[in-house]
Amino acid sequence: MKIIGTGRAHPSKVVTNAMLEQFLDTNDEWIVSRTGMKERRVISSEKLEDMAADAARKAIEDAGLKPDDIDYIICSNVVNEYITPGLSCIIQGAIGAKCACVDVNAACSGFIYALDMADDRIRAGKAKHILVVAAEEPTRMVDWTDRSLCVLFGDGAGAVVVSYGEGMIASRLTTQSKTDCLYYVRKLEPTPYITKPEYGAPMYMNGREVFKTAVLSSSRDIKRLLDKAGLQPSDIKYYILHQANMRIIEAIANWLKLDMSYFPHNVDRCGNTSSASIPLLLDELAREGKLKKGDKILMSAFGAGFTTGACIFEWTK
Ligand code: COA
Repeated sequence: MKIIGTGRAHPSKVVTNAMLEQFLDTNDEWIVSRTGMKERRVISSEKLEDMAADAARKAIEDAGLKPDDIDYIICSNVVNEYITPGLSCIIQGAIGAKCACVDVNAACSGFIYALDMADDRIRAGKAKHILVVAAEEPTRMVDWTDRSLCVLFGDGAGAVVVSYGEGMIASRLTTQSKTDCLYYVRKLEPTPYITKPEYGAPMYMNGREVFKTAVLSSSRDIKRLLDKAGLQPSDIKYYILHQANMRIIEAIANWLKLDMSYFPHNVDRCGNTSSASIPLLLDELAREGKLKKGDKILMSAFGAGFTTGACIFEWTK
């Protein structure tokens, strides 16, 4: 599988740390020193499905294809207004494609899981051109009076089109059921028969636990992948890591003994956009002309579950 097109869409509303200070007991110094975030893009009047379709159209155009050429759509998404139908079905209608569609929810690792599924499908000869979209609005999962969480997130949609080719070098997915350190619970409709206690709750996160697990698991995935591919850390042009926290990215850079030029980031401008963070950053790099044919890229993400996903691929465009 190789990536032949990328696209992205951001919400128009920029929320700076100073804007958060107006209604929360927080300050720019705390947010920047703990997370590296200066501002984030937050959904206001937009719909996530429109942003997802916008990113998809741009990726298809960048690939030099038409929506008709797409024969499978995979959308990574944790939350949107619809429980059903899947966001992938909505994107299909919006862009005028005619293929089978499916959603995946692997939390912030979802884009890597979706890419891995696309790789399998292409290797199996079941599809020629697959659209992979990651569209997320985590700002709708948090309690905006909780300063420890609402400052961390932003919204956005990133997309890629993949097709047959020699791009994917190695990938690795892991899941460890650990449901008490990061979750969001939605209350279902009542029925006349429900007798068990039920509740809904905004996102809960044990930040320190997630921080530790994220650094350890991403470092482990990166090492295993480099070993599998027979590469040294410096053979990778860019490490495109899940943009959850600048300190996590710096800890991984330190562990690899690499300087920060290997670690492009958008967390300072976009916040944590869940599974959209990697394709958003990938599109940014591609459109700024920073990716050259033959560059090796390593992507690594972690998220609720606890899931991790990582892959190494070569830029072939
Ligand atoms: N502004 C000011 N103070 C804040 C604050 C805010 N926005 N949020 C929390 N605080 C306070 C806390 O109340 C606490 O105060 P106390 O010591 O008086 O009790 C203090 O800051 C330290 O809180 P703590 O949670 O220990 O901070 P931390 O250094 O662990 O940083 C995170 C918190 C969330 C930034 C950090 O744990 C983190 O990034 N974790 C990983 C998150 C992540 O990657 N999530 C994505 C998963 S996909």
